[in-house]
Amino acid sequence: MRIRALNTSASQSTWSQRFESALHPAIARFNASISFDIQLIEYDLIGSQAHAKMLAHCGILSAEDGEQLVAGLEQIRQEYRQGTFQPGIEAEDVHFAVERRLTELVGDVGKKLHTARSRNDQVGTDTRLYLRDQIHQIRTHLLAFQRVLLAQATTHVETLIPGYTHLQRAQPLSLAHHLLAYVEMAQRDWERLGDVAKRVNISPLGCGALAGTTFPIDRHYSAELLGFDQVYANSLDGVSDRDFAVEFLAAASLILVHLSRLSEEVILWASEEFAFVTLKDSCSTGSSIMPQKKNPDVPELVRGKTGRVFGHLQAMLVTLKGLPLAYNKDLQEDKEGLFDAVMTVKGCLEAMTILLEEGLEFRPTRLNAAVAEDFSNATDVADYLAAKGIPFREAYNLVGQVVKTSLAAGKLLKDLSLDEWQTLHPAFDSDIYAAIAPRQVVAARNSYGGTGFAQVRQALQRADERLQSAENES
Ligand code: ARG
Repeated sequence: MRIRALNTSASQSTWSQRFESALHPAIARFNASISFDIQLIEYDLIGSQAHAKMLAHCGILSAEDGEQLVAGLEQIRQEYRQGTFQPGIEAEDVHFAVERRLTELVGDVGKKLHTARSRNDQVGTDTRLYLRDQIHQIRTHLLAFQRVLLAQATTHVETLIPGYTHLQRAQPLSLAHHLLAYVEMAQRDWERLGDVAKRVNISPLGCGALAGTTFPIDRHYSAELLGFDQVYANSLDGVSDRDFAVEFLAAASLILVHLSRLSEEVILWASEEFAFVTLKDSCSTGSSIMPQKKNPDVPELVRGKTGRVFGHLQAMLVTLKGLPLAYNKDLQEDKEGLFDAVMTVKGCLEAMTILLEEGLEFRPTRLNAAVAEDFSNATDVADYLAAKGIPFREAYNLVGQVVKTSLAAGKLLKDLSLDEWQTLHPAFDSDIYAAIAPRQVVAARNSYGGTGFAQVRQALQRADERLQSAENES
């Protein structure tokens, strides 16, 4: 066997001299991730700069080499931002693309950048830096979303809306109370993402391919430069772990669950059957054939996009479940779903925020009238009797009877005469009318967290304070 002389020239082939021939072009395309991981370039550059600084700091590279690498990487950033650096699939992925360009720019010293590093810890670092940034942005969107919900709630404390269970009229509510329920959900989403961020912000840099490195590196130094809170304790875990991505996708899925539920309500509310909101032109579209139509595209799209994010969560879980330690190429599949989920969540939050801020108008007259035309005050009749000492179950049965006979007579509870009430039960008095008036029905639910106006005003106050402190924190 003939051993060829070592080729140390600036060869452009990606792989070591172990390889004799090039990849099949279709396989090169199949293998390449540059078309999507180019989105990580800014993070790849920051990560590589921190790595180069660490190498110089530890005396693994000279200070001068370190500076040249950092400057070269900086230049690539400028080129990328100006649009002059546009690597194609021959680069395979963003990491190779950057290293090649760096070597073109600074010469052989560029080939030293990958000392004591692998693409495995590199891509893990990039993905975490990316997600950390995106989580920050999504959390800011969640606060803005809460702000517009709060603003709408503040103007609609006294607006009533039918409350439903099983989509059947149940008890009337303050519209503010209804909107504040979504504020609570968005607040949990904000907190949940803050918690996920803690596990995103751990540095795998320096885990190497899987086992660490023979060089005297300082992982804490590069981690600190990159603003990571901790470093992975185990190198195998560091390069294999995508739990943080699963957690993010789960948190993102819940955000979409919340937005989708609100969307469903807005779609119902905008229908002629409900007519609780009017859609403004800025957020709705028409039909190409039915000139009378105005469609709630924004909430429909949000509801529709929800499935994508759930799908990405499922895909990530399935990608991980059978993987032996440590890195496997399957992990390249972590990115597109993650990127799409990030884009989808941001887009949906932004659209719903605009919709609530200026895309719809509640119709207080319709809403207030709606609760006056039903039996959603029936519980209050039972409560009225129970407050006078009649056992609740007995009162409940009696009111059921009243509803039945009233329905048959085509009357509402408010239409019964005092005589009729007193025939039903002698405990009824003339104050029954005030007790079952919708506004009183709402006001009376003054238990903590209930829809009573006084409670709602306090809840608004608390939500506003909590939001202010979250806004200051971010
Ligand atoms: N493009 C690869 C990815 O996204 C980078 C890591 C490749 N590592 C490897 N050992 N082939 O996962």
